[in-house]
Amino acid sequence: MSETSCPSDRSAVETPIDRRAILSNPAIGIAQMAYRAGGIAASNVLGNKILQIADALLSAWIQYDRDDFFCRSRQQKQLNSMFGTGLLTEEGRDWAQIHDSVNNSFTRKNINKYHEQILDSIDANIGHDLPSNQTLQVQLGEDTVGWSVATISTVLFGKRLNSETISQFLDAFLEQNKPAHQPGSEAKIRSPFARLLKSLLHVTTEIEKLLEAPVQAALKQDPQQDQSLLLDINDELKRESRCPFSQGQNRNLVKTLFMAGIQTSSYTLDWTLLLLAKHPQHWQRLAEAIRPQLGNHRPSIHDFEHLKAVHNVIGEVLRMRPVIPTIQKGVTKPLEMAGINLKPGDTLNLSIYGIHNSSEYWQSPESFRPERFESELRAQTFTPFGLGQHTCIGQHLAMHILTTTLIRLVQQFDIVADDSLSLETESTFLLKPLKKQNITLVAI
Ligand code: HEM
Repeated sequence: MSETSCPSDRSAVETPIDRRAILSNPAIGIAQMAYRAGGIAASNVLGNKILQIADALLSAWIQYDRDDFFCRSRQQKQLNSMFGTGLLTEEGRDWAQIHDSVNNSFTRKNINKYHEQILDSIDANIGHDLPSNQTLQVQLGEDTVGWSVATISTVLFGKRLNSETISQFLDAFLEQNKPAHQPGSEAKIRSPFARLLKSLLHVTTEIEKLLEAPVQAALKQDPQQDQSLLLDINDELKRESRCPFSQGQNRNLVKTLFMAGIQTSSYTLDWTLLLLAKHPQHWQRLAEAIRPQLGNHRPSIHDFEHLKAVHNVIGEVLRMRPVIPTIQKGVTKPLEMAGINLKPGDTLNLSIYGIHNSSEYWQSPESFRPERFESELRAQTFTPFGLGQHTCIGQHLAMHILTTTLIRLVQQFDIVADDSLSLETESTFLLKPLKKQNITLVAI
């Protein structure tokens, strides 16, 4: 048994697995099991332990994992197997090398280089200089996915894809939600995870086909004249004398980034618009902060620093609705943790949703209160992008796109308040709105 220096003194409580809750909505089911057990629930499933954890200190300690006790979970490995060799599938040294090169290109400073392209792409998505009273209907889960495809690919390839290609990518992502892949129509596939695997296999195959031409074109660009994140990554690999990527590896890499980045970003934007349409006074507050400072000018990176209110809104959205609600880890070697003996093959579900919505860490966690980020924030209790070696590579890109989109929307539109909108969630892997809904924006 290995020695641990686990920082939490909370003990796990043996709890029978709540199969029904976890199958119908894993994110909520896992959080509820953890809450009922006082923070850590331990269950036996077919000879293995599964822990549901909503303890912030323990969750952070597991993610930092300084003693190599933990690894990607079995489920994650199954998911990752669809991405081909690359960022998510390699282990050990190979993974660390690719990871470092990609990470070095996704720093805040390097992403800032793409500010003008990001702005152009967002303006092309939402329109600009619109006549007063013109409305923009945003179909959540659809329009916003197209916006993410357009903007993230602009940064990766250095130029915007044409609208036909963007629609083809959008169709590939939306295929996942079509009836053939929904519960009920495939009665034999009972587990939500098995259904997810099946639909993702379809999506990743399509995405891979669609990526062939843009990846090839991006790699042919002249690094002296053109600028793209894909060239930056390849440059970084060369600079660090790492083995250069083949075209297939580049395609796998971009496929991974697409699969990890497009829907996470678009669902976060969906939640932002939903929460603001339900709480329009916060849109008004944003307008009061943004409009006098910027008018209709394009915001610069420098302007971001003076718009803390925008950051607070996005933070509060990511707190209430973290799109990756659960981070799963496997156990690699025997250890004692929270009073439980764990062994290889056991699974830990770190409930980011549970920690973000726990009254132990947040005052009135069910209330949408962006201003809480001025006082209540503590590093381990707010981790929408994860922590440690597997922390989100795309977080600066995601935050840049979300911040710029929200600023551009508030500069130009008022939001139509709608109290009937539903904040109910669906979660297999990502936490998204359960219902198909529209948001209406009106040009000022
Ligand atoms: C609001 C948007 C996003 C959120 C909330 C988010 C959240 C996360 C979280 C929680 C993880 C850790 C998962 C784990 O430990 O199992 C993660 C990993 C990752 N994210 Fe993001 N993400 C977002 C956007 C993006 C974007 C835009 C990209 C790239 C274009 C991206 C690329 C990745 C990659 C490659 C990983 C895997 C890192 C690794 O395993 O080492 N993400 N993300």
